[in-house]
Amino acid sequence: MTSKKVKVSQVEMIELVLPNDTNILGNLLGGRLMHWIDISAALAAARHCNTVAVTAAVDNLNFHKPIHLGNIVRLKASVNRAFNTSMEVGVRVEIEDITTGEVTHSNSAYLTFVSVDFVTKKTMKVPEIIPETDDEKRRFDQALKRRQQRLSETHGIIQS
Ligand SMILES: CC(C)(COP(=O)(O)OP(=O)(O)OC[C@H]1O[C@@H](n2cnc3c(N)ncnc32)[C@H](O)[C@@H]1OP(=O)(O)O)[C@@H](O)C(=O)NCCC(=O)NCCS
Repeated sequence: MTSKKVKVSQVEMIELVLPNDTNILGNLLGGRLMHWIDISAALAAARHCNTVAVTAAVDNLNFHKPIHLGNIVRLKASVNRAFNTSMEVGVRVEIEDITTGEVTHSNSAYLTFVSVDFVTKKTMKVPEIIPETDDEKRRFDQALKRRQQRLSETHGIIQS
C-alpha cells in the first residue's frame, strides 16, 4: 500500500454563519460547528484512505468564545497520523470577521476515523502517512501520545 503525504488529503472548508445556524442570541450553535468539524475531518480521512471513513471518536471539544451571525468559519482538516485501520485527524477552526477582516483561532479538535470497506463493511488497513513540514512532524509525534491516552481511557489498553 502506497504511503501518502499529508498535503494530499488536507481539506479547507469555508462556511458562512446564517440565521438558521444560530441560537436565540445570534451565536453559532455548538452542534452545527461539531457537524462542520466532523464533515471536514471525514473528508480528509476519506481522501487519505480512498474509501469510507467513519467517526470512531471525538476528543474533548471546548467552545472558548461565541461565533456570531455573519462570521466566516474556516475549517482546516489534516490527517495527523495513520495507524492500522484508524487515523487521527486534527481540525483547526478559524473565524473571520467579514467587517474587519480579522482572523482568530476559535478552537481545535482531534477526531479518530476508521476506514471501512464499501461492500463488506469491514475495517480496512489505511496507507501510512508521510509528515513533511515541522508542524506535520510535531502533530505526527503528538498523535501517538493522544492515541495511547484515548485508548487507555476507552479500552483500558495501550496500543502503539
Ligand atoms: C469505529 C468502528 C468501525 C470500529 O470497529 P471495531 O470492530 O470496534 O474495530 P476494532 O476494535 O478492530 O478497531 C478498529 C480501529 O478503531 C480504533 N478505535 C475503535 N474504537 C475507538 C475509540 N473509541 N477511539 C479511538 N479509536 C478507536 C481501534 O484502535 C482500531 O484502530 P487501529 O486499527 O488503527 O489500531 C465501529 O465501532 C463502528 O462502526 N462504530 C460506529 C461508527 C459510526 O457510525 N460513526 C458515526 C457516529 S454516529
